[in-house]
Amino acid sequence: MKKKIAVLPGDGIGTEVMEQALKVLNKIQEQYNIEFEYNHALVGGAAWADYQCHLPKSTLKTCQEADAILFGSVGGPVAEQHIEKWKGVEVNSLLGLRKAFNLYANLRPAKLYPSLAFASSLRKDISDKGFDLLVVRELTGGIYFGQPKGREGSGDEEYAFDTMKYSRMEVKRIAEVAFEAARKRNKKVHSIDKANVLTTMVFWREVVEEVAKNYPDVKYIPMYVDNAAMQLTSNPQQFDVMLCGNMFGDILSDEAGALTGSLGMLPSASLAEGSFGMYEPGGGSAPDIAGQNIANPIAQILSAAMMLKYSFNLTEAAEKIEKAVEKTLSDGFRTSDICQKNSKPISTIEMGAKIIENL
Ligand code: IPM
Ligand code: MN
Repeated sequence: MKKKIAVLPGDGIGTEVMEQALKVLNKIQEQYNIEFEYNHALVGGAAWADYQCHLPKSTLKTCQEADAILFGSVGGPVAEQHIEKWKGVEVNSLLGLRKAFNLYANLRPAKLYPSLAFASSLRKDISDKGFDLLVVRELTGGIYFGQPKGREGSGDEEYAFDTMKYSRMEVKRIAEVAFEAARKRNKKVHSIDKANVLTTMVFWREVVEEVAKNYPDVKYIPMYVDNAAMQLTSNPQQFDVMLCGNMFGDILSDEAGALTGSLGMLPSASLAEGSFGMYEPGGGSAPDIAGQNIANPIAQILSAAMMLKYSFNLTEAAEKIEKAVEKTLSDGFRTSDICQKNSKPISTIEMGAKIIENL
């Protein structure tokens, strides 16, 4: 089997951590009956110098020709200086890719590894219990993309507006992703809404409730978003799958991420209908530590594992990578973001090598 991967390292630490993920994939290639073709393309600030654009047509073409996109991160000085307009909205290349490929289902697992509990922002008695949750975020609708948006008027009368809009089809398909995911996990879906205030969210709750009826084996619990934000910090163990619209999922996935101790540990998948997807670490480009060989490559490596699972149906290989990461952590190897004060961190390259040793 041969799979084409569009490799988009992007900015900041993107290139360094991507190198480690590709080394891991090379090892998988040796161990399984699979061949990867890597096609590199520029995105974000890295694309600006050559294309004066963050998401060049040639990059889109590389992605169109691929079976999956492995994305690094975008951001930093160049990306922020030159913000582009897209359908009247100022956007970065991420939103462009999500829309171009209909990547409507965003999976953001947040797991507190027992060995990293010290790094969590949670109080010790809460973090000691650990947690393992999955945010399923709708990614191509809601207030991010709803039309109309704009600014009108001037002076004190100037105003700005966005539109929060969800169709039955959009809510139904993301709810189904959440319930299917829960079936393979701990069989619980908290659907996060604001049905006490927003009409869109009353509708959201109605549609999710209908979907829930088709999954009698999965526990369905609707929860207001403000309560969910609070519950995440006081009792994160109660959550298995958190189903969210675009904006609430953006916020809660960052919150859940912080609770795990390091953004350098968080992979994600953004899936289209079928097997196509984009896989990306949650931590961003971290320009402050770029180029120093100290960034944590684990999020990028686990994103590659998600690609194997969701786009290539190589679940066993994906789990092998996850286990290798866990072993490396339990052996005590740490990059600086997850390192306790008295111990010595290892580099990006060393972390990659240790994980590969454990494969
Ligand atoms: C994310 C980011 C993006 C979002 C931004 C950069 C457009 O915060 O992937 O969570 O809001 O979706
Ligand atoms: Mn975000």
